[in-house]
Amino acid sequence: MALRIIAWGTGAVGREALAAILDSRTGLELVGVKVHSADKDGVDAGTILGRAPVGVLASADAERVLAVEADCVVYTPRLTSVDEVCAILASGKNVVTTAFLFHPNRIRLRDRDRVLAACLRGGTSVHGSGLNPGNISGVLPLALSGMSRTVDEIKLQERADWSAYDSTAITFENMRFGQPVGEISVTASDFLAFNSSIFTEQVWLLADALHAGIDEVTASVDAVAAKRDHEIFDRVLLAGTTAGQRWNWVGRREGRPLVEIETLWTVGNEYPGHWPKPQHGWTLTIEGDPSMRAHFMSLASFKRDASMLEHVNAANVATAMQVVNAIPAVCAAAPGFATGATLPLVHSLIGFGNA
Ligand SMILES: NC(=O)c1ccc[n+]([C@@H]2O[C@H](COP(=O)([O-])OP(=O)(O)OC[C@H]3O[C@@H](n4cnc5c(N)ncnc54)[C@H](OP(=O)(O)O)[C@@H]3O)[C@@H](O)[C@H]2O)c1
Repeated sequence: MALRIIAWGTGAVGREALAAILDSRTGLELVGVKVHSADKDGVDAGTILGRAPVGVLASADAERVLAVEADCVVYTPRLTSVDEVCAILASGKNVVTTAFLFHPNRIRLRDRDRVLAACLRGGTSVHGSGLNPGNISGVLPLALSGMSRTVDEIKLQERADWSAYDSTAITFENMRFGQPVGEISVTASDFLAFNSSIFTEQVWLLADALHAGIDEVTASVDAVAAKRDHEIFDRVLLAGTTAGQRWNWVGRREGRPLVEIETLWTVGNEYPGHWPKPQHGWTLTIEGDPSMRAHFMSLASFKRDASMLEHVNAANVATAMQVVNAIPAVCAAAPGFATGATLPLVHSLIGFGNA
């Protein structure tokens, strides 16, 4: 029998998840859609994707969506709510999300206990994943460590220019690109603190899974100013405002760095001379016995000509699919927290599509 799914969020990532849920080869069935925007309220899920109607109407009323019977909710809003996720879990629906709860054992104790209690009440599991945080910062290093006798250090570097990323509200409002460099810090806003916390969680996830015994994870950011103006979709990033953010989340044992995630993010593609220069995409380095390095990038295609928008969207597909593909395993998991370290290997449900 198909697993009944609610899509909670229909942004760039949510729409990719929705398209996959509507593909019957996944063995999933769409039974509800929760939206935030008033102009999507009451609109058919197919219409939201620019396709023929599918007979499932989106609703902006959380209570109404919560009342729908379902096996799992794909939760992808821009702003997250622990209360909302607890209500979903307690109502008997599993949750997969690209937004947070990547390693709930290491979130604020009060929140951890609430989420766990909701899982136990509903007999459900919650799984946060995606691209990064997600596969590249969790599943891939753990999978590669299957070839390790011992591990000494792990470092993941993400190099990305956000100029082609069309969720400009996230770039400018949430991530504060275009704001004075003095206003970028780990605690400068609720969102920056939240964003930092999810990468901190990822460092803990790897450290916990690989017995690093770290005693702290520190977060820091170096913000750099643009030398000139940049037009980014409907926005202008002005010279002198933040055009680069280098973040480092470092897990240490007695002061020694063991697990690190570094992001080298620009808008407008001016690259600061004092930053390290990994290739575009993700570079994962594991120092140990043996030492390994992998470079990862995702594109719409390596063979055909694709537009920049399609290439950028490939990351949204990857983010969405990592949690959609995990749905059967999350539904089958024991109630509680499901992570990349506890779930079986998540692979494409459709794959080549020749059932
Ligand atoms: N783990 C990863 O690798 C990864 C990668 C990319 C993104 N993400 C995360 O995935 C989530 C979705 O990203 P996205 O690129 O799809 O973002 P997006 O395109 O900006 O989509 C925003 C979503 O949030 C909803 N929304 C807008 N304003 C809201 C508000 N004030 N409160 C609650 N919801 C609101 C929108 O509602 P409507 O449905 O009505 O449009 C839409 O569903 C975000 O949390 C993002 O940080 C994770």
